[in-house]
Amino acid sequence: MLHVHRDIFILIIFLCIIDDTLGGSFNQPKFDDNATWNPNAITVANSSSVGTAPTNLFIDTNNARYIPAFGLYSIQIWLERDTIPTGTYSTLPDSPQSVFVSDDGAFYTSINSNPSYILKWASAANHSINILSTDVSCYSLFVDAVNNLYCSMNTLHLVTKTSFNNSVSLTKTVAGNGSNGSLSSTLNKPRGIFVDRYLTLYVADCGNNRIAVFQFGQLNASSILGNLTDPFKCPSGITMDADGNLFIVDCNNFRIVRSIPGGFSCVVGCTGAAGSSSDKLNQPAALSFDSYGNLYVVDTYNNRVQKFFLTENMPTTLSSNTAQADFTATTSDDSPTILINTQQISTVFRASPCANSSIIGSHCNITSAPCQILQPCKNSANCTNNITAYNYICSCLPGFNGTHCEFDRRPCKPNTCSNHGVHLTHFSITTTSISCVGTCNATSDTTFICRCLAGWQGVQCELPVDYCANATCENKAVCRSLANDYKCECISESYTGRHCEQTSSTQVVHQVVTKTIGYIGIVAIIICASFIVLMDILKFGFGMYPEEKKSTQKQKRKRQVRVRFIYVN
Ligand SMILES: *[C@@H]1O[C@H](CO)[C@@H](O)[C@H](O)[C@H]1NC(C)=O
Ligand SMILES: *[C@@H]1O[C@H](CO)[C@@H](O)[C@H](O)[C@H]1NC(C)=O
Ligand SMILES: *[C@@H]1O[C@H](CO)[C@@H](O)[C@H](O)[C@H]1NC(C)=O
Ligand SMILES: *[C@@H]1O[C@H](CO)[C@@H](O)[C@H](O)[C@H]1NC(C)=O
Ligand SMILES: *[C@@H]1O[C@H](CO)[C@@H](O)[C@H](O)[C@H]1NC(C)=O
Ligand SMILES: *[C@@H]1O[C@H](CO)[C@@H](O)[C@H](O)[C@H]1NC(C)=O
Ligand SMILES: *[C@@H]1O[C@H](CO)[C@@H](O)[C@H](O)[C@H]1NC(C)=O
Ligand SMILES: *[C@@H]1O[C@H](CO)[C@@H](O)[C@H](O)[C@H]1NC(C)=O
Ligand SMILES: *[C@@H]1O[C@H](CO)[C@@H](O)[C@H](O)[C@H]1NC(C)=O
Ligand SMILES: *[C@@H]1O[C@H](CO)[C@@H](O)[C@H](O)[C@H]1NC(C)=O
Ligand SMILES: *[C@@H]1O[C@H](CO)[C@@H](O)[C@H](O)[C@H]1NC(C)=O
Ligand SMILES: *[C@@H]1O[C@H](CO)[C@@H](O)[C@H](O)[C@H]1NC(C)=O
Repeated sequence: MLHVHRDIFILIIFLCIIDDTLGGSFNQPKFDDNATWNPNAITVANSSSVGTAPTNLFIDTNNARYIPAFGLYSIQIWLERDTIPTGTYSTLPDSPQSVFVSDDGAFYTSINSNPSYILKWASAANHSINILSTDVSCYSLFVDAVNNLYCSMNTLHLVTKTSFNNSVSLTKTVAGNGSNGSLSSTLNKPRGIFVDRYLTLYVADCGNNRIAVFQFGQLNASSILGNLTDPFKCPSGITMDADGNLFIVDCNNFRIVRSIPGGFSCVVGCTGAAGSSSDKLNQPAALSFDSYGNLYVVDTYNNRVQKFFLTENMPTTLSSNTAQADFTATTSDDSPTILINTQQISTVFRASPCANSSIIGSHCNITSAPCQILQPCKNSANCTNNITAYNYICSCLPGFNGTHCEFDRRPCKPNTCSNHGVHLTHFSITTTSISCVGTCNATSDTTFICRCLAGWQGVQCELPVDYCANATCENKAVCRSLANDYKCECISESYTGRHCEQTSSTQVVHQVVTKTIGYIGIVAIIICASFIVLMDILKFGFGMYPEEKKSTQKQKRKRQVRVRFIYVN
């Protein structure tokens, strides 16, 4: 409650400060309702620079493009006029999933690992800091106007918001509850997220084929957006223009749609078919605008980023598919006031333009060769730069393969013959301190034999020998299997011996006394019971009533007296 009030308070202050022209870190161009984009795109990044299956993209107000290069373990950054990335920010040893640049020029990236974490590069910093650990990776990130960090957790079906106070972070769920569902309070595989300046949260709710809208502080969606006659199929990216119209990546319809008064209309990819031609997309994942209103789409399954020109920006001579042609054309078409100031950019980004593209850094003394900067080859493989292709080749050691030699196919890995990862729930001792790695002998390229140390068995020596299996602990003792043996844990100190089979002398005396008292008690009870039974037999069997007999005798005596009396008279 307190936090909600604080947030509202901050929001009110914030709304008082901002005016309608506030831009933020990304572009929100203003479009006419009749604005159109050229249906044929040019490719501005391909697998050479972003690796395979890119899923996210961010274009800042200086038109620098940030793309998480999943397979290259780095964030690739192109300044406006760059045709190849001039900033490469390594996320090794893991792959980046999404990226967001905040107002102050810092950028955040979530890492594709499980559990996951979020890295932040402060503006002009040359290294990242791990600012937050998350249970799963964030499909999308968003930093709102009051610096809260949002994370859409695709696999957990929820969206979280984290506020930072110095180094202390506070995370809460702002949409979804952790179970997949299609209620207003539940999400199904949420992907893209967008937070407007009123802190309204828009969620591309992929699995529900809808856009869910959450007002600030509400866990129930206030509205659900879609088109019943022409439904979304897994919306996965979302952004908003200056007028509050949404632009949505309709992933499995392979198109981009925008909201217009009274509904939605298709923007690009409108044939509805997947493909790799310039007018088609295949499983697009995210979108972003440059400051001129041109639309960039991450075309995941085509391993590329496509740029669709706003029709009025369309250069007259678009000869080749190079980004170079694209930028000369674009900038010449636009008013000089929007032309970028390179001085300004270099204060925001470390990757200031150096004399040639093979060197980067604010001192232009760091080589941009991928091997040196990415260190992409794993498992001690050698890396060879191929500058012409802006690429590299990893030469693997025997037993490893994969583009980055990341697959270890050796039959004998360091922990092949060990018990790593086995939960020893029914054995009470801690086995972690025991060296349990057996020796591995590779018998072919794929087979191995483990020679286990004493106490371990199984194909990979993964099972502790259960020494209790054949042991019998007596006197209710509990058997514990140890590293090389078993131990009977006696229920009290009165029992001794390996199997708790011996009883101590005081225990013997105690037992004798107890037993004797027990026997006496039992004899007493038997005597008592027999007496009662005897009495009953006498009473019912022989009609002997000691009390009644006395009283009849008394009566007889009285009668005798009376008789005697009558006799006298
Ligand atoms: C779009 O509509 C505006 C008025 O709303 C008009 O000025 C403009 O010329 C139109 N543009 C095109 C390309 O039709
Ligand atoms: C990527 O684009 C560059 C030019 O921008 C080109 O030289 C290269 O061959 C392309 N790579 C692939 C894999 O298409
Ligand atoms: C990164 O910056 C820190 C201090 O900000 C500096 O000590 C370090 O040498 C820098 N590293 C590189 C590779 O420039
Ligand atoms: C930030 O943390 C400090 C101390 O941890 C606390 O006194 C302060 O109220 C917090 N500020 C906000 C805005 O929560
Ligand atoms: C989420 O809400 C739904 C519907 O109210 C409920 O069935 C489900 O158990 C909830 N999940 C969790 C993790 O609370
Ligand atoms: C729904 O989609 C159909 C087909 O694309 C379109 O004709 C119609 O205008 C849309 N309706 C709304 C309300 O967006
Ligand atoms: C680049 O130059 C700066 C300043 O001269 C220096 O501090 C830094 O260590 C150099 N970096 C490399 C990798 O040589
Ligand atoms: C570098 O890459 C290009 C294009 O993929 C290829 O033709 C050339 O053989 C490669 N050079 C080396 C040394 O591998
Ligand atoms: C890597 O290069 C070094 C030196 O050139 C060489 O000795 C080594 O065998 C190479 N390793 C692989 C895996 O190619
Ligand atoms: C690695 O090698 C195995 C067999 O040795 C093969 O099945 C697999 O496809 C290879 N993977 C790559 C990425 O080369
Ligand atoms: C590994 O197994 C092979 C075949 O069974 C055997 O000849 C060899 O001596 C073994 N090596 C070791 C180190 O045990
Ligand atoms: C338990 O007895 C079985 C059958 O006699 C034997 O195979 C097994 O090795 C014994 N286990 C231990 C730990 O002695």
